[in-house]
Amino acid sequence: MLRRLHAIQPESFAFTPANLAWAEGQITKYPEGRQASAVIPLLWRAQEQEGWVSQPAIEHVANMLGMAEIRVLEVASFYFMFQLQPVGAIAHVQVCGTTTCMICGAEDLIGICREVIAPNPHEISADGNFSWEEVECLGACANAPMAQIGKDYYEDLTADSFRKILAGFARGDVPKPGSQNGRFSCEPLGGLTTLKDFTGEEFNGSVGIAVALGDTVKRIQGDEVPVLTRPKPKPKAKAKPEKAAVKKPAEPVVATADADKPVLLSKPRDGGADDLKKISGVGPKLEKELNGAGVFHFDQIANWSAKEIAWADENLVSFKGRITRDEWVKQAKELMK
Ligand code: FES
Repeated sequence: MLRRLHAIQPESFAFTPANLAWAEGQITKYPEGRQASAVIPLLWRAQEQEGWVSQPAIEHVANMLGMAEIRVLEVASFYFMFQLQPVGAIAHVQVCGTTTCMICGAEDLIGICREVIAPNPHEISADGNFSWEEVECLGACANAPMAQIGKDYYEDLTADSFRKILAGFARGDVPKPGSQNGRFSCEPLGGLTTLKDFTGEEFNGSVGIAVALGDTVKRIQGDEVPVLTRPKPKPKAKAKPEKAAVKKPAEPVVATADADKPVLLSKPRDGGADDLKKISGVGPKLEKELNGAGVFHFDQIANWSAKEIAWADENLVSFKGRITRDEWVKQAKELMK
């Protein structure tokens, strides 16, 4: 989709004082020199305030963040969450038209947008209240077909429920977001098949917050104080934590005497040395060291006791700790088979 600046632009843009304070607060979240990281929140707040992102808004954000204006335009034109043209005064409707939604009825929803709002996407309705567009997958495919209206998702739509939702917005209501067919979330259409004892709350997390904030299609001046009224789940009786058993660290095995020395050979037995490199963790260098110390065969390693391993760790060069870590004894036993 070609996304470019609208032909008609306002003279200027400025954040409201409260939004400006909020935006400056966002910038302080990032370390010196990384202020550009705040570009998306600032553009989003500009859109929350005005309904869309104008060229003066892009320039204003670029100035605040010390960015080239083209860089901010690149961000604004890349993400279709940013509207680059004026939108309906009440709501902009984004209908998902991607595969899952399409086969579940998105085309009917788009037909309703054409009929009720305006014949073409991004065209504002005759009363100035609505606009619409088709967008790519919004990630709620399990609840297809769906549409984002303002900031919230309306899911499991039918032509009928979608018409009612649009009519509700037109009356000045904000219909409850989320699934419109009675599903709590995205559980199977036929009901839960597992975790059936879940008693649930009135709303799932996203819907609960959307209802509590009530800012689905609101313009944000920045001085609104959202009051979260989502009911808290009842606290469950806490089971007394059992005292965790204190695990004693294993005693290190220390090789103390030559008695702990494994059997070492002056040369390989008849038939030649085994290929010790077959032991994972042993390369040509380690093999050379092992051979130099008198270790030529898998069975020598396979029979090492803990004390012999400790002795080898102490006395054979450059593989301290590897014998245990790479399980040489176990590997050697396997290779013997
Ligand atoms: S296909 Fe519509 S939300 Fe994914």
